[in-house]
Amino acid sequence: MDYQSLIEEVYEEVQQLNLRGKLADYIPELSRVDPANYGICLIDMEGNVFGTGQYQKGFSIQSISKVFTLSMVYDQMKGNLRKRVNVEPSGDPFNSLIQLEHEDGIPRNPFINAGALVITDALISLFPQPEAAIKKFIREISCENVVTVNQEVHQSEMAHSSRNRALANFMKSYNNMDNPIDRVIEVYTYHCSIEMSCFELAKAFQYFCNNGYSPYCKRQILDGSSTKRINAMMLTCGFYDEAGEFAYKVGLPGKSGVGGGVAAVLPGRFSIAVWSPELNPKGNSVKAIKTLELLTDKLKVSLF
Ligand code: DON
Repeated sequence: MDYQSLIEEVYEEVQQLNLRGKLADYIPELSRVDPANYGICLIDMEGNVFGTGQYQKGFSIQSISKVFTLSMVYDQMKGNLRKRVNVEPSGDPFNSLIQLEHEDGIPRNPFINAGALVITDALISLFPQPEAAIKKFIREISCENVVTVNQEVHQSEMAHSSRNRALANFMKSYNNMDNPIDRVIEVYTYHCSIEMSCFELAKAFQYFCNNGYSPYCKRQILDGSSTKRINAMMLTCGFYDEAGEFAYKVGLPGKSGVGGGVAAVLPGRFSIAVWSPELNPKGNSVKAIKTLELLTDKLKVSLF
């Protein structure tokens, strides 16, 4: 199928709607991004690439990186993972502290910040050089030689990490943090500071629509059952307290980041990434969500 005219039509339609949101401003680097950026890239199962707008321009992937770190530890940790992090939607904002106390330091899921910090902690225990391992992993799945980590964003993320440190310290008090907090924050903010384009993200997400197999590095990244489970977590938890709304409007497993990116998959059909930096009050890209809603409505496809 030729998706090119469809994504161009959706792009134009979304532009006409003149939707506005707010740039992330917890660090200066994200508030300086040009809000007019908007790109879409879809890759089908034959590897055909369809793109429009700024789909080849890099941006801060932020929390989208959490699905990559989860994939890196998932098969090795399986049983142990469930003892340390749950798989339920949180219904709370991504950086909320409140549930952790009620639930004895076990985060609701691996995509809220508390859960992602547990995954980063596990990754540090599994890989002697975690930053290099993350870079290598993303290079393989996106078939790109260079993976950019924005050093200014990384420094800034570390300087503004009080809330994430609070989450990590709190979990430490429940023995749910093995490595030094400083190191966990350093690696967590490192993977949040990676920059990728929609094109690179759509390539990187191919294994989620292909039973765990990446056609780029020709490697089984996850086994089929783990792929099903991570897709299920993306569907139910990938958009935090907007996960129900995203499933309702779009009906695809996906993951957002406060840089304005959203990556999603329709298993067996395509992977897609959309970027537009202005966010709604839940921290998800306004235009990216509208893009995926229109696209799945027009295509009449979704998980449902
Ligand atoms: O840890 C943080 O709060 C940010 N570096 C990442 C948050 C994020 O992308 C949440 N997703 N929408």
